[in-house]
Formats: sequence, structure tokens, C-alpha cells
Amino acid sequence: MTNTEIIQSIATEVRLRLEGEGSGHDWWHILRVWNMAKHLCEIENADSFVVELAALLHDVADWKFHNGDETAGPRIARDMLNGQHVKDSIINHVCEIIATISFKGAGIPTPMSTLEGKVVQDADRLDAIGAIGIARAFAYGGSKGRSLYDPNTKPTQHQTKEAYFNSGSATINHFYEKLLLLKDRMNTRTAKALAQQRHEFIINFLDQFFREWEGKV
Ligand code: ADP
Ligand code: NI
Repeated sequence: MTNTEIIQSIATEVRLRLEGEGSGHDWWHILRVWNMAKHLCEIENADSFVVELAALLHDVADWKFHNGDETAGPRIARDMLNGQHVKDSIINHVCEIIATISFKGAGIPTPMSTLEGKVVQDADRLDAIGAIGIARAFAYGGSKGRSLYDPNTKPTQHQTKEAYFNSGSATINHFYEKLLLLKDRMNTRTAKALAQQRHEFIINFLDQFFREWEGKV
């Protein structure tokens, strides 16, 4: 099989697994991340085979939906890649990206050790901000039964993955606990520029949200 055929068949498998997912980690998220990753990959001159496979497989078993288990994603990805007879060195690289890509709280650094990892992490994080990021945050919050906003619960800058994972606070808090922090955690220049505009959109959204909440508009 050619690399293109392997990518296509992994894409088909991922699509079947994630189609209809209701928390903003659905196939459309994967497709957007895949496209953005290809775009960044070209500018950054990264290895496109690794980038595309990691983009496609990065949420195949997200730890947030496996009770905090960070090993489920890389394990399932490894099985899928073995099924396509992908070389071990590529599988290891892709699984390392999947294992380290995720945001785990404001106080926890999530450095990516390779250019390919940086590209996929940026693509994933760009999809968490801007208009789509706002929509996904409320979709995720709704899927976990969280309220939109609770004036009595303040945002927290989580210092451990467990505290971040176990926090059940309102979705607006998530903007301060993660989304607004992402623009300064982008790796590539292109993503930094795209993030700036999406960040400002979120700021405007929050401004309007609070004005409406307080009955000022
Ligand atoms: P990451 O792996 O960095 O968390 P994902 O691709 O899994 O990135 O996307 C996380 C998505 O889920 C984001 O759009 C984010 O807004 C949403 N999300 C995660 N945690 C929460 C939360 N506590 N409240 C609202 N949305 C959340
Ligand atoms: Ni993702």
C-alpha cells in the first residue's frame, strides 16, 4: 500500500468510529484538524505522513472520555497502524504525539518533542478557539451536563492533570482555564498568527456574553 492509501484507510476507520460523537470530538473536528495540519505541515516542512496519521488518530480514544486513562488513545492508534503494516518507527512517532498532545491544565507544560508534534498540536488547538472553539466548548459542556455560567464559581488555574480532569465547573470557566491561554502556547509562527484573530473573537464573545448576562444590552 502507498502512504496515501494508508492515510485514506485510516481516515475511513476513524470516520466510522467518531461519526455522530456529540461532545465536539466528532469526525468533523478530525477533518478540520487534518486539513489545518496539512496546511501547517507544508509551511513548516514537516513529515506529512506522520503529521496526517497523528492528526487523524489524535482523538481516537481521548483520555477525557476514558476516565483519565492516557494510554487508551496511543494503544488503539497503534493497533490500527499495525493493521495497515506501518513501519514501527512511524508508529512510535505517531503514538508519542498522541500521548503528549493534550492540554492538561494551566500549570502543566505540554511540550512537543518533534516538529510533527508541534504542527498537530497547533492544528488541534486552533480548533479549540475562534467561533468553532466556542461552539465546541458548549457542546462539550452540554455533553457533561455543565451549566453555561455560574457567577458563584470562579475559574481555577489547575496545577495538576487530575484537578483539571475532575473539575466540573461551568463552561464559561473553561474559557479562562484553557481557551484564552492557547494563543500563547502555539508552537509555529503560522498558528500563532491564526490564533491571535481567533483569540480576539473569543474576547469579544465573552464581553457580549457578560453584557447580556448583566442585562446591559
Ligand atoms: P485537548 O486534547 O487539548 O483537550 P481536544 O481536541 O480534546 O483538545 O479538544 C478539547 C475540546 O473539548 C475543546 O474544544 C474544549 O473546549 C472542549 N473541552 C474540554 N474540556 C472542557 C470543559 N471542561 N468545558 C468545556 N469544554 C471543554
Ligand atoms: Ni482534538
